[in-house]
Amino acid sequence: MRADVRALLRCPHCGEPFQPGPGPRLQCPAGHSFDAAKQGYYNFLTGKGTSFTADSAAMAASRAAFLERGHYAPLAEALAGMVRDALSDAEADPVVVDAGAGTGYYLHEVTSRLSSPDHSADASASRAVAFDISKFALRRAARLNPEAAVFVWDVWRPLPLADGCADAALVVFAPRNPAEFRRILRPGGVAVVVTPLPSHLREIAEVAGLLDIEEGKTERLDAGMGQDFELLDRRSLEFTLHLSPDDVAAVALMGPAGHHLDPEALRERTSALGRSTPVTAGFTLSAYRPRPV
Ligand SMILES: C[S@@+](CC[C@H](N)C(=O)[O-])C[C@H]1O[C@@H](n2cnc3c(N)ncnc32)[C@H](O)[C@@H]1O
Ligand SMILES: [Zn+2]
Repeated sequence: MRADVRALLRCPHCGEPFQPGPGPRLQCPAGHSFDAAKQGYYNFLTGKGTSFTADSAAMAASRAAFLERGHYAPLAEALAGMVRDALSDAEADPVVVDAGAGTGYYLHEVTSRLSSPDHSADASASRAVAFDISKFALRRAARLNPEAAVFVWDVWRPLPLADGCADAALVVFAPRNPAEFRRILRPGGVAVVVTPLPSHLREIAEVAGLLDIEEGKTERLDAGMGQDFELLDRRSLEFTLHLSPDDVAAVALMGPAGHHLDPEALRERTSALGRSTPVTAGFTLSAYRPRPV
């Protein structure tokens, strides 16, 4: 982890900064200490746990497989573009926090595009932080983002980060904690939230057993964010995916329905699909500026 990222972290127990040090162990002045797992992430939820259900190993594997095939690359591109436009005044290596980062795909895509707009650089010059409650997802996130600080942490709790330290917060199909996002963002920073459009995956909703997408999601999003943020920019994105039966099973298992679906029964249903099913992908990207504290 970069020393300048370590300096932004706060002990999840007492809120103090961690002591500088050469090794991966994080230790605060009160003696709370955390060692990195062998894959490189830290579990800050030790002892406390969380009441939320984390994505399972099978869900994380489906997510990684689906995203690796590039199906959501246009979304990654649009997300990076929105962050770049909102931070046009930013320093060269912005601090990007991904809340509910999952397998770290969007964090990787956004930070590599921010450091090199044509996406040619391998290493990212951004300072990256990821939170998620699923260690299965974060093992992959840590591998994909070796420079990032990656934490098992419940985003409904106070985030273990200093006030005003972050340039951007990303929330891609994940829970939002607007008060905490506002606290950690600098004035002029941005929170970008991605939500599905009602048209998202509609052609396979039935065969794949997907949960309904409620109407009025953006109105509820604005209402939830409104006390702490003002809307800066909103963009809709729709494109057509061409999915194999395996892709259809993966996209179902990686989402919220993955908590309930029986993978065997799902594969049996999807095996009846043609080799390539055209499917709508539809997203709303909403960028918010923090209101002055
Ligand atoms: C639908 S996935 C999206 C993951 C990632 N943003 C992506 O789009 O690839 C939702 C993620 O939120 C995580 N999650 C759910 N509740 C959470 C919480 N309270 N705190 C942190 N992460 C949470 C899940 O473990 C899962 O990885
Ligand atoms: Zn402490």
